[in-house]
Parts: sequence; structure tokens; C-alpha cells
Amino acid sequence: MGATIQLKGWVRTFRSNRFLALNDGSCQASIQCVVDFEAFPEALLRRVTTGASVAVVGELVPSQGSGQAVEVAVKTLEVLGDCPADSYPLQPKRHSLEFLREIAHLRMRTNTFGAVMRVRHAAAFAVHEFFNQQGFFYLNTPIITASDAEGAGELFRVTTLPADGAPKNDEGLTDFRQDFFEKPTNLTVSGQLEGELGAMALGKIYTFGPTFRAENSNTTRHLSEFWMIEPEMAFHDLADNMDLAEAFCKHIIKAVMERCQEDLAFLDQRLEQEEKSKPQAQRAEQGLLEKLQFVLDNPFVRCTYTEAIDILKESKPNKKGQFKYPIETWGADLQSEHERFLVEKHFKSPVILFDYPAKIKAFYMRLNEDGQTVRAMDVLFPGIGEIVGGSQREERHDVLVEKMKAVGIDPEHLDWYLDTRKFGTCVHSGFGLGFERMVQFVTGMGNIRDVIPFPRTPGNAEF
Ligand code: 4AD
Ligand code: MG
Repeated sequence: MGATIQLKGWVRTFRSNRFLALNDGSCQASIQCVVDFEAFPEALLRRVTTGASVAVVGELVPSQGSGQAVEVAVKTLEVLGDCPADSYPLQPKRHSLEFLREIAHLRMRTNTFGAVMRVRHAAAFAVHEFFNQQGFFYLNTPIITASDAEGAGELFRVTTLPADGAPKNDEGLTDFRQDFFEKPTNLTVSGQLEGELGAMALGKIYTFGPTFRAENSNTTRHLSEFWMIEPEMAFHDLADNMDLAEAFCKHIIKAVMERCQEDLAFLDQRLEQEEKSKPQAQRAEQGLLEKLQFVLDNPFVRCTYTEAIDILKESKPNKKGQFKYPIETWGADLQSEHERFLVEKHFKSPVILFDYPAKIKAFYMRLNEDGQTVRAMDVLFPGIGEIVGGSQREERHDVLVEKMKAVGIDPEHLDWYLDTRKFGTCVHSGFGLGFERMVQFVTGMGNIRDVIPFPRTPGNAEF
């Protein structure tokens, strides 16, 4: 107290030519700077507008007003960068999230996006912290690849061939031998296949990088560019994999709750306001903080696909025809409406579904003894649906080759991947966590476009 300090930041508000709320982005709270307006030229004070950057030197003193313990008695005040009020789109009032998406280059200056971005940082830090503590190595897998790990064909092509008049081969098709990598390449849809190579050498690895999917899904849970964390562990079976996924999710939630109390309290309030504008029946049963604590305190329910189908078949919405995709037979792919029913209505808890039909899952998953199901697992979260997808991997060379052929993948094309099954193969497992879905969960933000600084979605690559 009594110390002279220098502050630089942006003006949030300037009331009565006297109370300047200054924020430098480091936390939710602004510091109150008290300006003696008689001591400064009026022309200078007029430039202290919302959004302007300023430097203040003053004395830290106990606050006269309520709402803060200390304030700064301003001695010198300098406007570093003006912010004309008539053209600045952000006003000190509540803007809709839709409007803020249009000005994503400025929205991080708002309370909501400041909070979300700080929480996102804390969650990313917790990811590295968790795996480092558990003896995993951070492995950087390639962003440009020639493979389609998920086999879903939702690829962004990477090429230096001209868009008009690409060279043709004898068959009249694009001649990729003349392309930069002398073969067709794309942005990665998953680092898993390379991650497996790392696990077969280092034991336990994880990736954390950008992932690209050209699926035309305009939902509140899909981005065309998102960040995925993919651990891969030698000598781990599906049960070990589920344990790790649960511990990992809980670690991130716990870390954020401990380290982002101010931001989470703000987001909790924000969500409560939003809920109040909904009809009673649609309101969430738990507030944000309550929901996070609930997930920490309770074990995730584990349930096989087969059990889940039985529950869904017998469920009210299925019998009343309320599902868009009615559940009739074993083997049906689960849609997000089904996942959300299981999590939000039936179990009222995060759920790990496992042992899915082989037909609806990727080729690399370990076939069970029944010949019908694979050791796949999905972690489903309330309000989110699938947050983690993973499996025990097919470690038997010949079975894997058969599975590739069955879905039309040329084994020669992935000979480097098959080498792991030839040279010291072992039981191993891994999963992928969609980072933005986790950030959505911990911040309570309803739309995935609002938890990444610059979202990419179909038709949108602005900023
Ligand atoms: O279930 P997915 O497709 O699994 C894989 O990619 C595996 N190779 C992971 C592994 O076993 N190593 O994706 C994993 C997670 C999903 O559960 C979801 O949270 C997220 O990634 N995800 C997306 N998030 C945002 N936008 C999208 N378009 C996403 N697609 C998947
Ligand atoms: Mg999945």
C-alpha cells in the first residue's frame, strides 16, 4: 500500500471523468483508477474512451468505494492508442454471441471471451501437466500426411498443383507424381497412426495438435479445424484405456476449477442468466460449477454398446417416436440424440460406452472374440455428447491386414504402420479427446465456435 505503480491496459469504462476501469487482459477484474479531473487537460480526458490503450502512474491506496479493496490514485495519465467511440464496435454492454462471432478479431476483449481464453489456456497447461506427471512423452505427429487414419475420407487436400489445369496422367486423372510430395497428401485427421509408432518405441506418448476434417457438419460441436489430444500406450488394454481417459478428464476439470475460480464464477453467472431466458422445462438442472463438481465426485458409468441399445430400444422417446433416428436393431450407429438420452436422462452421469459393433468403427480397433464387436470406447458427457473416442488396437498382423482389405485400404499403402505388428507387436491402446469440446464443457459455452479464438467451419475462414 502506498507504492507508486505503473499500469498499462485498455479502458473498459470511464465514468464521470473520474473512475477509470483499466484492464490488461491478465484477469477478469479491472482495476479502478481514480482521476482528479481538475488536474488534467479536458482534451486528454476526452480521449479516455472505451477500448483506448493507456498508461497510468499512480499510488496504490485503499479504495473509498465498495467493490474493490484498492484503487490507484492517478498521478500521470497518457493515452497510448485512441479508440474512436463512434466506430468501435464493442460497447460496455452485453453483445450477443452471434454478433461477437462477426467481430472475432475484437471479441477476446470482452469479459466472456477473455474468461474463455484464459480457461482454455489453463486446460491446455493441465493436459501437458497430466501426461508429464504420468511419464508420457509429448510427440509431434505430422500435419501433412498421405494417409486417412479414420478412413472417413473427410480430407483437406494439400497440393501445389495449379487449381486450373492440373497435369493429367495416361488415364486422364490428376498426375500427383508431379505434385510437391509426388503423391496425394492431405491435412491430418488424426495423429494416431504415427502416435502408435511412438508408443511402440517410447512406451507412452501423447500428441496435442491441430486436426482437420472436411465434414460438412454445421453443428454446435463440430469445427473444420480443431485441436485433439491423443495418448497412446503400449501394454494397455481397453480397461486401462478407460481408466486413463476418466482420470485425464477429471484432471483437466479439477485444475481449471482450482486455477480459474474468478473466470469460472463469471461464466457460471453468465450461464445462469442465459438459462433464465429459457422456458422452465428446458433449463439445466445444475449450474456450471455444480456440474463440474458432480463430474469430479462420481465415477463415470461404464456400459457396453449392447446394453445401451437395449436401454434405448425400451426408452420412452424411442417408443413414442421422438428420436429422429429410431433404434430398431443391434448394429445401429448411435446419433447424438441417443448419446444425450443415455447421459442426460438415463444415467445422469458421464458414460463410457464400449465394445461397439465392428461395422460402425474404424479398421484399427481390436476385434473381440465374438467376431462381431471391437474394443472401442466413447466417453459421453452431459450437454456435449462424445468428448473422447478411442480403442484397444488390433495388434495381430494378419487380422489387421484382413480388416484393412475389408474396408478397401491397400495394406501396402500403410506398410509402415503394419511394421509395428511385425516387429515386437503388443497389446496397446489410446484415445482422442476433442480439446474444444472439453473447453465447452468447463466453460458452459453452448457453441464450439465460441471456445476457439478463430473458428473454421464450412463457409467460414474469416480472420
Ligand atoms: O472419435 P474420433 O474421430 O477419434 C479419432 O480420431 C481417433 N483416431 C482417436 C484415437 O483413438 N487416437 O475423434 C476423437 C475426438 C472426438 O471424440 C471429439 O471429441 C473430437 O475428437 N472431434 C471433434 N471436435 C470438434 N470438431 C470436430 N469436427 C471433431 N471430430 C472429432
Ligand atoms: Mg468418434
